[in-house]
Amino acid sequence: MTHQALLQLLADMSLEEKALQLCQLPGGVYNPEAAVTGISRYEVDPRIKQLAGSTLGVGLGKKGSGTIRAIQEEYMKNHPHHIPLLFMADIIHGHRTVFPCPLGQGASFDPDMTEQAATVQAEEAGLDGIHVTFSPMADLSRDARWGRVMESTGEDKLLNSRMAAAMVRGYQGNDLKDGRSLAACVKHFAAYGAADAGRDYNNTELSEHTLREYFLPAYEAAIRAGAKLVMSSFNSWNGIPVTGHPWLLKKVLREEMGFSGVTISDWDAIGQLVPHGFAADKRDAALKAMQAGVDIDMCTLAYTEYLEALVQSGEIDEKLLDEAALRVLELKNELGLFENPFRGLDDAPRYTDAQKRAIARKAVAESLVLLKNDGAALPVKGQRVAFIGPYAQSEELISSWALAGEKEHTVSLWEAAQSAFADGETQLRTVPGCTMLDNDTELARGHYQADDWDAQNEALLRDAAEAAAWADTVVLCLGEHHLQSGESTSRVSLRLPQVQQRLLHTVAAACDRVITLVFCGRPLELKQVSALSQALMVCWLPGTEGGNGIMDVLSGKVPPSGSLPMSFPYSVGQEPLHYDSYPTGRPKPASGWAGFTSRYLDCSNDPLYPFGFGLTYGNLSISPVALSANELTPDGSLTASVTLKNTGDLPAARTVQLYIRDVTGSRVRPVRELKDFRRVSLAPGEETTVSFTVTEPMLRFWRGDDTFGSESGAFRLWISLDSMSGDAAEFTLKA
Ligand code: GLC
Repeated sequence: MTHQALLQLLADMSLEEKALQLCQLPGGVYNPEAAVTGISRYEVDPRIKQLAGSTLGVGLGKKGSGTIRAIQEEYMKNHPHHIPLLFMADIIHGHRTVFPCPLGQGASFDPDMTEQAATVQAEEAGLDGIHVTFSPMADLSRDARWGRVMESTGEDKLLNSRMAAAMVRGYQGNDLKDGRSLAACVKHFAAYGAADAGRDYNNTELSEHTLREYFLPAYEAAIRAGAKLVMSSFNSWNGIPVTGHPWLLKKVLREEMGFSGVTISDWDAIGQLVPHGFAADKRDAALKAMQAGVDIDMCTLAYTEYLEALVQSGEIDEKLLDEAALRVLELKNELGLFENPFRGLDDAPRYTDAQKRAIARKAVAESLVLLKNDGAALPVKGQRVAFIGPYAQSEELISSWALAGEKEHTVSLWEAAQSAFADGETQLRTVPGCTMLDNDTELARGHYQADDWDAQNEALLRDAAEAAAWADTVVLCLGEHHLQSGESTSRVSLRLPQVQQRLLHTVAAACDRVITLVFCGRPLELKQVSALSQALMVCWLPGTEGGNGIMDVLSGKVPPSGSLPMSFPYSVGQEPLHYDSYPTGRPKPASGWAGFTSRYLDCSNDPLYPFGFGLTYGNLSISPVALSANELTPDGSLTASVTLKNTGDLPAARTVQLYIRDVTGSRVRPVRELKDFRRVSLAPGEETTVSFTVTEPMLRFWRGDDTFGSESGAFRLWISLDSMSGDAAEFTLKA
C-alpha cells in the first residue's frame, strides 16, 4: 500500500478504530489454547477483539502452532476496513530450534553466529505466521541477583551493542515482506537491568551520565541496525516510570536516536503507572502514557477504555492518536500484511532441520566458558567415565523464554555422550546424584512436591558415591533450575543448592578427576565448586543441541572458546559487579596493607573470574602489545598488535580483547573499557598477529560538561584475553 493510501485509510477510520489499533490483546483472546506469556484466558468485548490492532503469544508451542491462519481469516472477514491483525511473540533465543540463552550467546563474543541464529529463529516463527519478536533484549546487566541477566548478553556496552545489532539484522533480514523474517522490538527501554538491589521491576537510580555512557548504547545500536519497534520498560528511572517518561521516549528515543518506528509498552506497564503512584487511575495512566509517547498498550486496555474519551474531552490532541495509529499501519505495511495478511504461512523454509541443528550445535560449543582445566583434565580421558548430577540426563536445557521449544527435541548430555563414546572403548555410567533443588524453595514446593525428599537424596547420593568410586573420570553436571533465571526470578543467593553441594563433596571424595559443568542463567558463586574440581566449565542454558555441543568440547572435537560476558563474584555481596568500574580516590593496592582504601574486610574487590575470561585447549601465549605510534591525532589512527601463538598439541580458540583506559578526564574514567574484540582460532603450532585500529572517536565519552567527545591526554591500552590480565602500552591523544 502506498503512503498516500495509508493516509486515506487513516482518514476513513473512526476514532474508535484508531484507538483500538493501539490495543494489544493476549493471544488467549484469539486462541484460548494458545501457549501465551502471561494470561492465557482473557475475556473481552467482541468489539474490542474485532478491532484490536495486535496480539501476542499466539502460534507458540504444540497448541499454538497452525492457529494463526484461522484467526486472521476470521479477523479480516469482520474488520470494517480489513486491516490485518499483527501477531507478536517472544522469540528470545529460539522458536522450535532453541539456541543458547542470550547470556550464553554473549559468551561466544560472536555476533555473526548470533545473527545466523536469529535468521533461523525468524524463519521458524515467520513460517508459523508470527510477524514481530520482542527481541533483542539490550539491557546492560551488572547484577547477578537479577534473574533477567539470562536474557541479556551481559555487562559490557560494546558487546551488548554488537550482539543487539546482530540480532536485529538476523531477525529482519533485507526484506521485511519476506515471511521468513520478523520485525525486531528492542527492549526494555530503558535501563531495566539497573533495578535497585537486583530486584526485578524495582526503581533504577542512575545519573544521566551513567544512563547515557553505559545503559543507552545497546538500544541505540539496535535502532541504528533498523529495529522497527522499541518496548518501554516496567521500571522507573530516578522516580519517574519510563512508560510515562516523555524525555526518554520522545527527546532521547525519537529526537536524539532518530527512532521513527512503533513504541509498545511492556505487559500492563501502562496500568502499572497506578501502583507506581504516578497515575491516579487507569484513565490518568492512559493520558500520561500517550503524552509520553507510547504507541501500543500491551494488555492493559487503558487505551481501549479511555483514549476516545480523552480525545473527545480535548485532553489528548487527536493528532497524537493519528500519529501513533499511522505508525502501526506503516509497520503492517512494511511487513506486507495489506497485500498478504497470511504472510509467512505459505512460504518454503530455507533451512533443513539438520542445518538448523548444526548451527545450534556450533552456537552451543562457542558459548561454553572453560574456567579451569588443571592437569589437562579436559578433553575427557579415562576408561570409565561417569556422568553424575541432576543435569546429566536432563532435557530441561531450554530457558523459561523458549516458549515454543519442546524439551523432547532437546539432546541431553547423556544422550550425546552415548553417541560420542559409541566406539565402546570407554565405559559409561550415569546417575542423577541428587535432586535439582533443595526442598526449601518455592520452586521446589511448587514443582517437585516430594514427602520423602531426604530419603530420596540419601539414596541418590549413595549411588553417586558408588559411581564416582567406579569411574576414573566424573563429569559432574550441576546448576540452577532452568526456572531460576528469567522474569521475576531475583535471588539473594548465588550458591548451588545444598543437595548439589553435598553431591560435589561426595564425588570429589571418591574420584580424583572431576570435571564440573555448571548450567545456569546468571553468574553463580563457584569458589568451592572450583576448588573441588579439576576442570570447570559454564554451559549456561544451552538449548536444543545442548548435549551435542557440550560433548563436542568435552571430547576435544572442538576447543572451548567462550569468554565470560559477566563477572563471576566470590560473593553475592559484591553485586552489582562489573569490570569497567571507577578507580576511586583510594584504590586498593595490588599487594601490601590495604589500610584505608576502597575494599572489603572479608572479600576481594576482584571477581573470582573476570569479564572476558575463559580458557581453551592447546597452549596459547600472547605477546606484549606493539603500537604503531605513541601519539594519536584527532583525524589519525594508530595500530595496536599482538602475536598469538599456540605451542600446544590441541587446537586453541579464544576472543582477543582490546581495552583502553583514559587516564584522566573531566569525568572520572573506568579502569578499563572494551573497545574491540575478535575471535581467533589456532591449530597446534600456529601463530598469528592480531591488530586493532585505534581512532579518536573510540575515545569519546560523556564529559564533565555533559557533552560527548574525547579529551587529549594520556591513555593506556591492553590487548588481552580477559579484562584483568596483560601489560599496558601507553599513547597520547593530541589536541
Ligand atoms: C513480559 C516481559 C517482556 C516480554 C513481554 C511480552 O512481561 O517483561 O520482556 O516481551 O512481557 O511477553
